[in-house]
Amino acid sequence: MSQQLEDMKSDTAALHEKAKQTLIQNSRMNAYTIPSKNLYPFQWNWDSCFTAMGWLQFDEERAWKEMETLFSGQWKNGMVPHIIFHEMVDSYFPGTAVWRAGEKVDSSGISQPPVAATSVRYLCDKAQDKEMVKAKVMALLPQIFESHQWWHNDRDPEHKGLVATFHPWETGRDNSAEWDEALENVCTARLEEYRRLDVTLIDPEHRPSNYEYDRYLSLVQLFRDHDYDQKKIHDITVFKIADVGINSILLRANRDLLVMLEEFKPDDGWMAETVKGWIERQEKAFSRLWNEETKAFHCLDLVSGELIKEVTSAAFLPFFAAVVSKEQGKHLVAHLDKWSEVIEYAVPSLDPYDEKLDEKRYWRGPVWAIVNYMIADGLQLFGEQEWSERIRNDTGKLMQQHGFAEYYDPKTGEGLGGIDFSWTAAIWLIWAGL
Ligand code: DGY
Repeated sequence: MSQQLEDMKSDTAALHEKAKQTLIQNSRMNAYTIPSKNLYPFQWNWDSCFTAMGWLQFDEERAWKEMETLFSGQWKNGMVPHIIFHEMVDSYFPGTAVWRAGEKVDSSGISQPPVAATSVRYLCDKAQDKEMVKAKVMALLPQIFESHQWWHNDRDPEHKGLVATFHPWETGRDNSAEWDEALENVCTARLEEYRRLDVTLIDPEHRPSNYEYDRYLSLVQLFRDHDYDQKKIHDITVFKIADVGINSILLRANRDLLVMLEEFKPDDGWMAETVKGWIERQEKAFSRLWNEETKAFHCLDLVSGELIKEVTSAAFLPFFAAVVSKEQGKHLVAHLDKWSEVIEYAVPSLDPYDEKLDEKRYWRGPVWAIVNYMIADGLQLFGEQEWSERIRNDTGKLMQQHGFAEYYDPKTGEGLGGIDFSWTAAIWLIWAGL
């Protein structure tokens, strides 16, 4: 074996060990994993779903525990909150004093992209301990079903097939340029005084702006003032968007949930029948997100009825939902080709030709490993091996050269945001060294 190959192998092994240690060090109460020390000291919903898949690579029981702990925070209406405050830590804002929410345990009052079913299906497929699989999955399936039911009923009360998000934090892509116009309409007149902590920990240029935070918090106050009543909020909020990200992830999650319901049969079949109905409705509705002019998927503003103009990395998530036609797929791949002419690492979170591109600012340009995981997985399902591999390789290079950062500059590769980040380390482990 050449010296170069040997060095590469030992570097990969060292990074593998570092990824495991990242999860171990970010583990709390041996029950959940914080995304990153200081910056995000609680349990985040979609973070935990990806992190559980990482845990599975070296500790199956701990992987299941991650998901069980997440669902221990589920509300009676079925919603799984975006943050669960299991322990009190004061390095994060906004904490429990702002949200004033949660039932069995303190939590935020919004949700996050529903990755749970996809994660649990992954655990089922890959876990070695099949007895544990059966016991764990039988308990989790009804809870996951109820969380999807919440999305389909409370966030799509007219059953049109696209679910609404009420908050940028709920999409996970907090400061994406996609939300700019809708945020302009959010009233900040009653905003309470507050002090951000994130900007004391991370370069403010790499985080959302104060203008955005004023609107994020005004929305939280509005929800809290309405006791998190989904129907009332649905009727009055000016921020109501069918996010192509959430809708793709939910459709994929429904497909994964259906496979598990049919395999494990936790009931007489009515849950599976219901999920089939949701899938059918979603598949039909997806055409509303396609724009024939840009040849891309977009978010839909449910207040104005207009498609939002920006094209972002979320435009490729319909691949993950297996809802892309051959023709649409060709156009989407052409976007990837074109984007790659001006960036080094795929996939930037905003079209790199967009004038709002900001390579270092959170969701306005940087590359995110978890989005890359979903896009690469979707492209593979679609049969586009070349781009799937390119994305996987780019993600690996970023981690090898810049560690397990929260996000990366698509031109220079610089690691940004939180360091020793759980979900980034988990993606390394899932892809087993890429
Ligand atoms: C944050 O605090 O930046 C989170 O993304 C909100 O969930």
